[in-house]
Amino acid sequence: MLNIALPKGRLGDAVYDIFESVGYGCPAIREGGRKLIFESPENGVRFFWVKPSDVAIYVERGAADVGVAGKDILLEYQPDVYELLDLGVGKCRMCVAAPKGFREDTDRTLRVATKFSRIARTYYAGRGREIDVIGLNGSIELAPILGLSDVIVDIVETGTTLRENNLEVIETICPISARLIANKSSYKFKHGEISALCRKISEKGGPGDD
Ligand code: PRP
Repeated sequence: MLNIALPKGRLGDAVYDIFESVGYGCPAIREGGRKLIFESPENGVRFFWVKPSDVAIYVERGAADVGVAGKDILLEYQPDVYELLDLGVGKCRMCVAAPKGFREDTDRTLRVATKFSRIARTYYAGRGREIDVIGLNGSIELAPILGLSDVIVDIVETGTTLRENNLEVIETICPISARLIANKSSYKFKHGEISALCRKISEKGGPGDD
C-alpha cells in the first residue's frame, strides 16, 4: 500500500486527477465531505488530505511515502526528501513586487514582507543586498500599502491580487510548480511501487509537457 499526501484545495484536486488517470483512483474521494483519509485496496493506495505547507513534513517523517508539494515549499523548508517529478500543475512564479512606481533607495536596508523568509534571504544575499525580513502569514500585499515594508516576496499566479492592490512585479525569482516527493526510506523499501507510479505519470505526460 502506498501512502500519498495530497495538498488540500484546488491544487490537490488537479493532482488527484493525475493519480486517478494513471490507475491510482479512489472513487470515494469524489464524494467531498470532511473526511481526510481515503483508501483503495484494489489500487494499492491510501490518500491523505493535508494542508499544502504540511505535505513535506508528512513525507519527510514517513507518515506518507510520497506526496505533492509546491516547489516554493521545498525551497523554503528544504525538507530531507527526494524530489521525483515535476507534475506540471500549480504553475506560478516567486516574485518581488512593489507599489506601482516604486523606486528603490539602495542606501537603505530594504524591508521585505514575505511568507518565504529563506527564499527572500537567499535571493537578496546572492545580490549582496541587505534586507530586513518581515515575516507574515498571509495577505502579504497589504504590507507595502500600509508602509510596513518596501517590497514583498510572494507567489504570483494570475497577477490579480497584485493588480487589484496597485502593486506590480519588479523581479521574478523563479518559476514554481507542483512536485512529486518521496520519503527517503520508502523510496528504498517501496522502490517498485514508487517507480511504477513515476513511470505511469511520466508516460502520461500532460500539462508539464507543453
Ligand atoms: C497567494 C499569494 C498571493 C496570491 C497570488 O495567496 O500569496 O496573494 O495567491 O495569486 P494571483 O496572482 O492569482 O492573484 P493565497 O491565496 O495563498 O492567500 P494568502 O494571502 O493567505 O497567502
